[in-house]
Amino acid sequence: MRELSVGDDTLGGMTLDTVVLTGAAGRVGSVLREPLRRGLRRLISVDRVALTAQGPGEEVRRAELSGVEDVASVIEGADAVVHLAGVPDEAPLADLLEANVLGAHHVLEAARLVGTRRVVLASSNRLTGCYPATRMVSAEMPPRPDGLYGVSKVAVEALGRLYADKFGLEVVCLRIGSLESEPSEPRHLATWLSPHDCAGFFWAALTQPVTFATAYAVSANTRRFWELDDHIDYRPRDDAEAYVHRILKADEYFADDRLQGGEYATADYTIRHGLNSWSSSTS
Ligand SMILES: NC(=O)c1ccc[n+]([C@@H]2O[C@H](COP(=O)([O-])OP(=O)(O)OC[C@H]3O[C@@H](n4cnc5c(N)ncnc54)[C@H](O)[C@@H]3O)[C@@H](O)[C@H]2O)c1
Repeated sequence: MRELSVGDDTLGGMTLDTVVLTGAAGRVGSVLREPLRRGLRRLISVDRVALTAQGPGEEVRRAELSGVEDVASVIEGADAVVHLAGVPDEAPLADLLEANVLGAHHVLEAARLVGTRRVVLASSNRLTGCYPATRMVSAEMPPRPDGLYGVSKVAVEALGRLYADKFGLEVVCLRIGSLESEPSEPRHLATWLSPHDCAGFFWAALTQPVTFATAYAVSANTRRFWELDDHIDYRPRDDAEAYVHRILKADEYFADDRLQGGEYATADYTIRHGLNSWSSSTS
């Protein structure tokens, strides 16, 4: 893995002019806007909520992306799309299918129709959250989602693969770790993704020569349980272990026989966030 910083696209990958960022007002989008703006000639940041441009090179659009035409109208002429818009946690399956699965399909289909070369899809570590925390997991291993949200990301990645195999789009699925300014709980010692490394992974996903790749985006944490992928040649810089002194009961947490998803992988989490509305509507 090589050192790579935002703005450096000298690895023989594609030269970028215009990139569209969906879900730009959210947690991940807010971390990516500034570095992408600096690295690109033109960044188009899109969200259903209003945004203000952060400086030269960024254009903002307020749009509800609810169909192929909505997406096509904002991505026409762009070289790539980073698609972040969606529901980022456990929720009723119908909501996840609409926001995440249909949402990703609209983006991929719009990209095919208007000729956008590359799509970077926000996937999630929760797609493999039911693996034991003692196991090193790679993106080649079968999904073991820790909830309905993880299931939606399995479908998102499958759509990406389909559009790469069948229609020749370049697609990168990034399984984002826990994006936080600093790690604040024991699980983050394995799963933390620092803002700096987040920008590095997305820049690599936009610029490196790939036809299809699925990769974990996680910092260089000593207790990391996901393998880095050679196709996305970015070497993360930060290590959550530097914050271990602030995290209570870290060793106890890792001594226990638990699943990678931690609390997310419990039955109760899905019952409370994903199934409650179903049981109350049928009772
Ligand atoms: N934050 C993390 O640590 C993390 C970890 C793993 C995966 N992810 C994935 O990254 C992506 C972004 O996550 P986030 O934490 O920034 O979520 P977020 O909820 O903070 O942001 C999502 C943004 O998308 C916008 N949006 C949603 N639907 C839209 C639509 N139809 N049209 C226009 N705008 C719409 C929302 O207004 C919001 O600003 C998600 O796909 C999530 O599953 C995030």
